[in-house]
Amino acid sequence: MIIIICGSMPKLVIIYGTGSHNTERMANAIEEGAREEGVETVLKNVNEANKNDLNEADAIAIGSPNYNHAMMPTVQKFLNGLADIELAGKVGLAFGSYGWSFEATQGINNKLKSYGVEMINDLNIKRMPGDEELEICRRAGSLLACKIKK
Ligand SMILES: Cc1cc2nc3c(=O)[nH]c(=O)nc-3n(C[C@H](O)[C@H](O)[C@H](O)COP(=O)(O)O)c2cc1C
Repeated sequence: MIIIICGSMPKLVIIYGTGSHNTERMANAIEEGAREEGVETVLKNVNEANKNDLNEADAIAIGSPNYNHAMMPTVQKFLNGLADIELAGKVGLAFGSYGWSFEATQGINNKLKSYGVEMINDLNIKRMPGDEELEICRRAGSLLACKIKK
């Protein structure tokens, strides 16, 4: 007997900008946490990302550090380009490293929400994430994964 199993695993797509790798460290840990829960992941620097990367996503995590009270222009441009993609009903996370203010993650959250994405709480880590902060990022990845597992 041949058994064919159809259907794909739930998928989390993580796209981030970073200047000095702190937000990238967060992104890697979010991916680790999601993989521990057995979901498929795609992880890309925004410079290599394309809006079509989000097509098959059940959850999307978008990250940017806070520079000059704003998200990185590359991340802003990527988000602006998503207007014609169907994102409503997907689960979302805004994350990023910061020094003293939260405009980047707030901006990501607002934009994704305007596209109908169901956002979980923003994940802000001050400067370089240490072991404890990386664990918090892993947990956020696991939470996203749990929300999209059938
Ligand atoms: C030129 C410059 C401007 C910054 N502006 C802000 C800011 O407006 N608000 C803030 O919270 N942090 C600010 N920071 C701190 C960064 O958000 C922080 O260093 C962060 O860890 C960078 O993340 P990354 O390594 O992913 O690029 C600034 C840092 C630099 C170098």
